[in-house]
Amino acid sequence: MGGFIVANGTQGDEFPSTFPGGDWPEVVDSPRVILYNIRSKPLVKPHLIVFANEKGGVGKSTLAFHTCVGLCSAGEKVAVLDLDRRQQSLADALASREATARGLEVDLPSPRYTVLENQSGSMLAQEISRIGAGSRFVIIDLAGQDSTVARYAIALANTLITPINNSLVDIDALAKIDPVNMRVKEPNRFANLVEDLRRERELCGMPPIDWVVVKNRLRTAEKKQRQYVDQALNDLSQTLRFRVTQGLSERVAYRELYLFGLTHLDLKLFPPLSRLNKHVEPEVSRLISDLALDRANPGQESLYNSKETARCFKAEEYRNSLFATR
Ligand SMILES: Nc1ncnc2c1ncn2[C@@H]1O[C@H](COP(=O)(O)OP(=O)(O)OP(=O)(O)O)[C@@H](O)[C@H]1O
Ligand SMILES: [Mg+2]
Repeated sequence: MGGFIVANGTQGDEFPSTFPGGDWPEVVDSPRVILYNIRSKPLVKPHLIVFANEKGGVGKSTLAFHTCVGLCSAGEKVAVLDLDRRQQSLADALASREATARGLEVDLPSPRYTVLENQSGSMLAQEISRIGAGSRFVIIDLAGQDSTVARYAIALANTLITPINNSLVDIDALAKIDPVNMRVKEPNRFANLVEDLRRERELCGMPPIDWVVVKNRLRTAEKKQRQYVDQALNDLSQTLRFRVTQGLSERVAYRELYLFGLTHLDLKLFPPLSRLNKHVEPEVSRLISDLALDRANPGQESLYNSKETARCFKAEEYRNSLFATR
């Protein structure tokens, strides 16, 4: 735990006699303590992309996976840390990707990845340095709940991505909505936490976090609902300083391919599946470009240009199952 404040009265080797900026905070995972700990460590080198929303099932792992594959496919070196120790959904998808690559004998651009078992701020920092060494991006997928380690991850982020399902009910992850006029009443706990962490980070002179709220599971129906959501997000984006981008539309194929560790970006390698690709690949590509991540070689060296196609003949069952994807 060297260098990290772990609890009032216990200490790492840099325990301060007086806390900078005033009284010693009572709560050990308060934004101020977290930023104090982070500031005493060297800044991490890779661009850290953190997927966070305390609301569950909004698409954090799905969008983290698509972002990861998008970056890997563009030739970027990516590392992934799954902080959802219980579900490990992102790590499972990446393991499935390896199995698909083996089963179909095809090279699928992939990241290094691991699950963070020992969930503390210091272990997170250590693991980012270890797995992120030599990577341009580290992607972190959080569980759908508040925790000390989630706060550290958010505080360290260069880009913070909060997916929301495109409905007023799901927007309550960010704010309370007035049911009478459908306008924002006040930000909720998660939004306030992000705001506090950002403020402390800025007070420490660290670069600001780019907070992007991504609308996920978009449906063409529900026009009125979408207008209300856009209005509420617009209101909120001013106070909470986030950008809003389009995510993915609602598609069963996303779920089905996820089980194989695949995205629509991979389907060029599988000619029988290219029919699935027409409208969807641009959507996935747009998701990545809207995130406006600081890329070293934007748009270059796409591995999709590879002439290789999957040699499926050895994996009949695998192929049949995959090609039955809608
Ligand atoms: N665009 C989409 N189209 C169809 N299904 C989707 C889409 N995005 C997510 N899903 C599905 O919604 C469910 C929840 O998604 P996901 O697991 O990515 O959410 P999460 O925020 O990571 O959840 P948790 O908080 O439990 O970790 C999954 O079954 C996923 O396949
Ligand atoms: Mg998840």
